[in-house]
Amino acid sequence: MELGCRNLVGYCGGLCLLYFLFISSISPTAAVGEEDPSSSSALIISRFQKYLQINTAHPNPQYYEAVDFFISQAKSLSLESQTLEFVKGKPLVLLKWPGSDPSLPSILLNSHTDVVPAEHDKWANHPFSAHIDSHGNVYARGSQDMKCVGLQYLEAIRRLKASGFQPIRSVYLSFVPDEEIGGHDGARKFAESDIFKDLNVGIVLDEGLASPNEHYRTFYAERSPWWLVIKATGAPGHGSKLYDNTAMENLLKSIESVRRFRASQFDLVKAGLKAEGEVISVNMAFLKAGTTSPTGFVMNLQPSEAEAGFDIRVPPNGDPEALERRIAEEWAPTSRNMTFRFKHKVSVFDKSGRPVLTATDSSNPWWILLEEAVIKANGKLGKPEIFPASTDARYFRELGLPAIGFSPMANTPILLHDHNEFLNKDEYLKGIEAYESIIKAYASYVENPRSAGSKDEL
Ligand SMILES: *[C@@H]1O[C@H](CO)[C@@H](O)[C@H](O)[C@H]1NC(C)=O
Repeated sequence: MELGCRNLVGYCGGLCLLYFLFISSISPTAAVGEEDPSSSSALIISRFQKYLQINTAHPNPQYYEAVDFFISQAKSLSLESQTLEFVKGKPLVLLKWPGSDPSLPSILLNSHTDVVPAEHDKWANHPFSAHIDSHGNVYARGSQDMKCVGLQYLEAIRRLKASGFQPIRSVYLSFVPDEEIGGHDGARKFAESDIFKDLNVGIVLDEGLASPNEHYRTFYAERSPWWLVIKATGAPGHGSKLYDNTAMENLLKSIESVRRFRASQFDLVKAGLKAEGEVISVNMAFLKAGTTSPTGFVMNLQPSEAEAGFDIRVPPNGDPEALERRIAEEWAPTSRNMTFRFKHKVSVFDKSGRPVLTATDSSNPWWILLEEAVIKANGKLGKPEIFPASTDARYFRELGLPAIGFSPMANTPILLHDHNEFLNKDEYLKGIEAYESIIKAYASYVENPRSAGSKDEL
């Protein structure tokens, strides 16, 4: 069936939206319980391996293999499914577990299907073999980031269905492409679509990070990338001459200033006053200067131009105006014949001017429910954090929706994008229990029952 539709894609141009008919499986799930063979740990782990073995690494992710995998999982769980292609060749699978009250905002469990490339020769085992060692560690690219989460959602739903649980709110699962290359053709297009609007989403769960200790980590915001390029110009001259205001001298003054600022931010982290995600980070990404010669650089010439590029990450509760001023007045002042531009700059504010973050206090019932549900599943939560880099969650938060980043991996070294990425199978199974508890709490949460009652009276 996917094959047929894939051929159809060839006829679509530009922003192509392809629907699958909602498939409602006719075969009802057999009465399940502990005897249900599909709920055995061995089978759960073998399904995890199967997903990990699909090579969805850039630059040539096998997205359609992942689509086929999820469509067949959906069938086995009697979930409705559709495949969307906002951009040709970049399919997104959307599954639905319908709730009994479709008027209530729904729950979206998001995960990305792509992974970053792996340097095969630096791994002890092939990164797409999903080898399990004697400790139960499952080694594969994507085992932490974030194929674990995508399938844990489904395994949790499998358990809830087996227990006879019926959701009141609808639960959607989105398996999106391209997160690792910015999510522009995946989660971003999805979040901006009419289809998404029609889902009436009330809360989004997305990825977090592994935790080396026993506390799960949660993320309520992320830092915005500002990719800054500063450029200095100055009179060229002989390499032997001492004179003021050369491009190199002007740029070096700026670099010194940037480094002082970097150290001041890093000191706050080192002193334990702020977490990594709470400070503005600045790292030099490139230095571009010099006059090239066939053997390298001309050495007796002071160049007339010099450039440096910085990857800056700004937390949503940072002070972006102060940073803008610092850039204009200290890092690239016109008085020093310097200019600056941003290669990429994401606002720390949403469309209505509010900082892009999800509340983690009693003002946000979804946060309280998650906290309680994790504890109920015998999990421990650390203090909520700002994600140090970017994830797809930002596209949902920018719409004003609450989104919580959570990948239940405690007692696990942080190995995303690293060699020999792994997740222990017991940790994976524990994570399923955490999601079972969370999905159950979310899907049975009836917001503001009083106002629902008054609606009935009208
Ligand atoms: C800026 O450029 C002008 C024109 O080239 C030059 O006269 C001046 O000295 C430069 N100033 C600095 C601080 O580099």
